[in-house]
Amino acid sequence: MDIIPLGPGFGAELRGVTLADVASSDEAYAAVRAAFEEHSVLVLRDQDVTDEVQLAFSRRFGPPEVTKVGSQGTGSHFVILSTIGPDGKVVPSDHRMQMRARANQLWHTDSSFKRVPALTSILSARVIPDQGGETEFASTRLAFERLDPEMRHRLENSFAWHDYAHSRGKIAADLASPEERAALPPQCWRMVWRNPVNGRGALYLASHAYAVEGMEPAAGLKLIEDLAAMATAPGTTYLHAWRKGDVVMWDNRATMHRGRPWPSHEARLMVRTTISAIEADGVGTMRPPFWQAAE
Ligand code: OGA
Ligand code: MN
Repeated sequence: MDIIPLGPGFGAELRGVTLADVASSDEAYAAVRAAFEEHSVLVLRDQDVTDEVQLAFSRRFGPPEVTKVGSQGTGSHFVILSTIGPDGKVVPSDHRMQMRARANQLWHTDSSFKRVPALTSILSARVIPDQGGETEFASTRLAFERLDPEMRHRLENSFAWHDYAHSRGKIAADLASPEERAALPPQCWRMVWRNPVNGRGALYLASHAYAVEGMEPAAGLKLIEDLAAMATAPGTTYLHAWRKGDVVMWDNRATMHRGRPWPSHEARLMVRTTISAIEADGVGTMRPPFWQAAE
């Protein structure tokens, strides 16, 4: 397996390895897992992707999430990101499916609004528009390391609240349905997630984050927004332009990502599997022990 660096200090393309290799070989999995811990975003090109092989690859990294209520693919291990309606035609630009695509275009990390957050997401492109529709990534690990020591120390002992309804509310007040709100109460997470393998900290931020524990609401939101703007500053991101056969996986503990727009009359269909950040013993890797105050 060859590792070719891609982005500004993070991200890598893996050559000489397939999804099926990782699904079937402990050695291939170990090599990809090590690259994942180090590079945060991995690109595999020219893959023969089916739902089955994507899921078999994904399961190597931990337990797959079951898709939440209100998303396409609910109850399965697949999230289907698409603006293609049941009749096979692209839905109009004011349709809820298009609004959900726009919500995905806000900088975020997946599943920070869930009781168990996500370790990694694995995304494959199935229908690609002619223009646009890239996915852009930022390293919140490198962003954390750019901060001064005082700010780093402060954030290691800070906790932010994340709510799915907050990010959806930025697109339309009622985009999060009553069922989604009931299923997804706000969650509070440490603002720095330390990688258990290499010890490097990363900002844990998302469009879902709306408040900082112990801070006045407007000041907390401003801190979140200022950190997110710094973490995604121009020149610090990797833009992935999709080709047929591409699979991209990212570390939700150490990155943010956003979809980029494309002409709304063009079809785009992506399939995601998402792996929970949970150890074999069933303990979430973020809390405890990450819930306890840092030194
Ligand atoms: C996702 C996501 C963005 C895109 O799959 O989690 O945010 O470009 N995707 O589809
Ligand atoms: Mn996402």
